[in-house]
Amino acid sequence: MSDAPAYDPEAVLRFYAENGIDSVEGEMPGDFFGWPEGAPKLVRPKPEPAPPPAARASAPKPKGPAPITAADAPMPTDEAMALAERVAAAATDIPSLADAIDAFEGCPLKAGARQAVVYDGIPGAPVLVMGEAPGRDEDREGKPFVGRSGQLLDRMLEAIGVSRSEGDGLLGACISNAIYWRPPGNRNPTKAEVAVCLPFMRRFVELSRPKLVLLTGNTPTQALFPDAPGITRSRGKWRTIETEAGPVPALPIFHPAFLLRQPIQKRLAWRDLLEAQAKLKEG
Ligand code: URA
Repeated sequence: MSDAPAYDPEAVLRFYAENGIDSVEGEMPGDFFGWPEGAPKLVRPKPEPAPPPAARASAPKPKGPAPITAADAPMPTDEAMALAERVAAAATDIPSLADAIDAFEGCPLKAGARQAVVYDGIPGAPVLVMGEAPGRDEDREGKPFVGRSGQLLDRMLEAIGVSRSEGDGLLGACISNAIYWRPPGNRNPTKAEVAVCLPFMRRFVELSRPKLVLLTGNTPTQALFPDAPGITRSRGKWRTIETEAGPVPALPIFHPAFLLRQPIQKRLAWRDLLEAQAKLKEG
């Protein structure tokens, strides 16, 4: 008999759970459920050239999960950006834009996310908040800012008389993100992922016609204003988003997740929120 300790898969899983490892993730997004037997787990296999249509029609149907084919290969970024422009422009209101994002196949993050996370709150409300990207909780629930940073965001908004919930007597807010699918392991989105989602974000602002937009953190700020310095220097300085529906004032502020890590910075965040409140009163 071997002296090696018996392998106990339950103990291994317990160890993972106790140490906070509660999901299977890699740097690259991918559909782990659809992965063919024996294929490497973290790297998409190189796409095979598509067979000619006649060969496709006569090929026997494989059993089990569909193999990954050329059709699953990520769309080139330029093509995905052009497609995003077209479908975003065709949307006529926020719900139809949300449907278009949901159906969009041009962002590679989609393969590794449970669902698209587009918006929460009141479409067309005077305040529009743009976050960075969904995290684990948002990916599960399908709504932006539902985790700890979302709770802080709600308190920040309520402090200036704004709320994403209808009917509580406060000024309404709608909340969305620069990216609609959770990046694996909550890594920062790449420039290409931001560029592919940007036409949707711009159209979201255009169709919402808010009185002002709060841009939380670097991702939404630098997506809309590539010349903007880091958030520490760009926060609190008004910018203008030019849309087909007219100019919209936008204020970069610290991201609530950053404020959770650096509570001392809440002082500056409060100053920015008061700026936003004053702008709302102007109108
Ligand atoms: N952080 C964000 O920027 N957006 C979310 O939806 C959640 C956390």
